[in-house]
Amino acid sequence: MSRSIRLAVIPGDGIGQEVVAQGLKVLTAVLPQDVKLETKEYDLGAQRWHATGETLPDAELESLKQHDAILLGAIGDPSVPSGVLERGLLLKLRFAFDHFVNLRPSKLFPNTSTPLAGRPDIDFVVVREGTEGPYTGNGGSLRTGTPAEVATEVSLNTAYGVERVVRDAYERANSRPRKKLTLVHKNNVLVYAGHMWKNIFDKVGQEYPEVTTDYLHVDAATIFFVTQPERFDVIVTDNLFGDILTDLAAAVTGGIGLAASGNINPTGDFPSMFEPVHGSAPDIAGTGKADPTATILSVALLLRHLGYEQQAARIEEAVAADLEARDGSARSTDEIGDALAARVAG
Ligand code: NAI
Ligand code: MG
Repeated sequence: MSRSIRLAVIPGDGIGQEVVAQGLKVLTAVLPQDVKLETKEYDLGAQRWHATGETLPDAELESLKQHDAILLGAIGDPSVPSGVLERGLLLKLRFAFDHFVNLRPSKLFPNTSTPLAGRPDIDFVVVREGTEGPYTGNGGSLRTGTPAEVATEVSLNTAYGVERVVRDAYERANSRPRKKLTLVHKNNVLVYAGHMWKNIFDKVGQEYPEVTTDYLHVDAATIFFVTQPERFDVIVTDNLFGDILTDLAAAVTGGIGLAASGNINPTGDFPSMFEPVHGSAPDIAGTGKADPTATILSVALLLRHLGYEQQAARIEEAVAADLEARDGSARSTDEIGDALAARVAG
């Protein structure tokens, strides 16, 4: 385990700035005295784009690479055309740093509201492929803007890319008590990609005899997320299905203010990036209403990834205790951060 952490910080836009400050507060509080935390902040996002037209210059990409991990708040503002920052910054980082595992745990914490009846036990992890599928920019538009416009958006799937994320998902399933892995795809309609995913899923599965496997079409999976979420343990799926399913998962487990994620490069060739699932929430930016818990739980994922399991668990226990103690009275972003920092330090 490294006894120093070189952390790159991209607060970004809107509430990103506010929640990242709380994430750093809790990180500082939970780390043992002898672990040296070095942070470097990067000015990237909407403001930077307005000022200079840049999204992610190569020099900054190189500089980010020199870190053990990246903590990101949120990127995006209504004043920037849709797609500019998503493609030029967020997706560029995920592709450049080969973040092929997009990890999104979903857990129903005590005292949180869920629209589901009967408060089922929900504790599953979605392993979403992060570098392929329809998100690679493999497409184009012809006769753009005319009534005869043609647009393509090709879903790219490689055996290499599928096998490595499927293997990662088996490893994660194998290390959890239930040892269950569900593949989600749509192989009755998307037969080429779907069959490749299923064949690789079955083949790799032979190496993990203790893991129980299951397959669901993505449309059926959305039903079970709501009617039987307790049936899931680890889910592996492609980039687009994973994007949609994890928002649904966040909604049924206490809301977007609690949903954490990691963009992980399991080989360690590049820094992994941890961020809340939510965006920059321009509607509440600057009001102190943003819940920093999703970012603080992302810090726990970051610590676990770097080998600080005990500290990660301390943060998760603190969040559970904090949620249990919530009485419905409104607390500011800062107050929640302070409360969690106090719990992990104590
Ligand atoms: P959003 O997640 O920013 O907000 C959706 C709703 O959830 C809003 O009503 C907001 O107030 C609320 N919300 C979000 N986070 C919250 C928190 N921590 N505490 C309390 N309430 C919270 O999604 P939206 O509005 O679709 O997007 C806003 C901007 O963020 C857009 O520019 C979008 O592109 C960007 N975005 C960026 C992401 C990222 O950086 N990874 C992810 C999603 C959106
Ligand atoms: Mg999303």
